[in-house]
Amino acid sequence: MLCICGISGLVGRELSNYFDNLGIQYIGTYNRYRSIHKNNIFQLDFTKEDHIYQFKDILKLYNVKIIIFCIVERVLEICENNWNVIKKVNIDIVDTVSKICNEYNIKFIHYSTDYVFDGFTQPNSPSSNCNPLQNYGISKYISECRVKSNCSNYCIIRTPVLYTSNCKLNENALTLISKKCMDLRKNVIYEEDNYSIRRPLYIKDLCKFIYNVIQYDYIGLYHFYNPYNKYTKYEICKVISEYCNVNIDNIKPNSNSSIGNAPRPYDTQLVDTQYDIYKYDFTDLRQSISDIFTKFRHDIINRNHKNKFFICLDLDGTILESNNIHYECYKYAFEKNGYNLNKKEWDEIIEKDTMENYCNNKYDKTISEQIKKCKYEYMKNENIQIVFTNNSDKFIEYLIQYNFNFCIVTNSSIQSVNIFKNKCDLLNRVRNWIVREDYSKSKPSSDCYKEAYKRYYRNEDIILCYEDTEIGYLSAKEITNHIYIYNNIKVYQQYDCYLIDDYKDLFE
Ligand SMILES: NC(=O)c1ccc[n+]([C@@H]2O[C@H](COP(=O)([O-])OP(=O)(O)OC[C@H]3O[C@@H](n4cnc5c(N)ncnc54)[C@H](OP(=O)(O)O)[C@@H]3O)[C@@H](O)[C@H]2O)c1
Repeated sequence: MLCICGISGLVGRELSNYFDNLGIQYIGTYNRYRSIHKNNIFQLDFTKEDHIYQFKDILKLYNVKIIIFCIVERVLEICENNWNVIKKVNIDIVDTVSKICNEYNIKFIHYSTDYVFDGFTQPNSPSSNCNPLQNYGISKYISECRVKSNCSNYCIIRTPVLYTSNCKLNENALTLISKKCMDLRKNVIYEEDNYSIRRPLYIKDLCKFIYNVIQYDYIGLYHFYNPYNKYTKYEICKVISEYCNVNIDNIKPNSNSSIGNAPRPYDTQLVDTQYDIYKYDFTDLRQSISDIFTKFRHDIINRNHKNKFFICLDLDGTILESNNIHYECYKYAFEKNGYNLNKKEWDEIIEKDTMENYCNNKYDKTISEQIKKCKYEYMKNENIQIVFTNNSDKFIEYLIQYNFNFCIVTNSSIQSVNIFKNKCDLLNRVRNWIVREDYSKSKPSSDCYKEAYKRYYRNEDIILCYEDTEIGYLSAKEITNHIYIYNNIKVYQQYDCYLIDDYKDLFE
């Protein structure tokens, strides 16, 4: 029996898919970030002594003969700032588990990194001198030494930066590069490293090598790498942007030196002559980029192909600069009823929920109704003017003029929407609406988007959603991967979506 420690990570997940396809049995462990609920997968924190005892029992129970060890702390910037954390995870756990392997006669397969080299000379074979430049590389190098001294049946595999399609974009160094490409704010200028060389390896290509390590019982230290890939981060940006069809004139190549918080080696090119690397198949970077980004790519909105698109737009904050209006009106209503509402509280409430829900939960029914009534009365006030977000009015004019299938999907009540419609003719001309009364659970539930889909979707090829908050993103995610976030960097950094601050370049 095989055991994959860290099955919830990038390599662990891909390996388990690979073994599933081959019908190979295994057990696995995860810790906390990405829980997996299956009979053969166990939740264990290897920094806890009692979990190590449990782990030993599991090894005996399942008669484990091989451990594939994928547990690591690898976020470079975390590693650089917290040596104690990475020492615990990258060295102490490896030390413990490799000793257990020796005691239980289990083969220990361990991953290491090209960052054990300083990148000044190329190529680097398994016998080349190591000289890691940062904490991550140092911790991995020490872990290698522990494995070598603790157990006799081991295989250490050093790889360059790994990537996969089976993760969020911010989960690995290669797809993280796309975060600059998918930020469509034209006035934000980025710099990208056009100096250091990356030789990224697709994890699917690595799996076959691991399988051979097991089948042919490789022992010792190996390098596994893609001998064909050689790119700077800026060049990878170009590949991604060409595939996704986005303009990256605002990303400037920096050809002088490497940038970032931790020192990164120039080129850690790996080689290994212990086996014939050219017998392995490798996925071309362009091919893997298209696999990963296919779900984010779509044609530009164009009247000649209007039947291809189904477009959903959130209202408050996304097409209307109305969050402040709602705040001012609620503030007034709270004060009229003897309560206070400051902007900080307001921001925190609407980040996670609707104000209506908040009032209903916090106050008794009569007070909550009074606050809402008072808020709506105040909203009708002629001094309260509606302002569209950057060129969203032009976008809506365009969609109406060319008869696109689109709708507005909002958490706002019919009463709010009617007040806005009375103040603004353009909103009156929008035919399709989903308002709070049309569905049961408010965003972040997907009820509203599912309702929009049910009522208005006509089998168009591309579904586009425009939102401005986390709850909006989570709600829209159920019906599409093509999500545009208006002016919310926090949401953009956390989730897979485009970021915009202007609607003018989004249509022909
Ligand atoms: N990714 C790369 O670019 C790259 C490049 C070269 C070498 N490598 C090597 O490849 C191996 C696998 O890396 P990866 O990219 O798959 O890493 P990853 O995605 O960060 O996954 C790390 C795994 O370790 C688990 N883990 C972390 N702390 C733990 C603890 N205290 N107890 C138990 N489990 C814990 C995590 O569990 P939860 O998420 O469930 O908490 C997760 O399953 C590592 O040895 C790494 O050095 C990776």
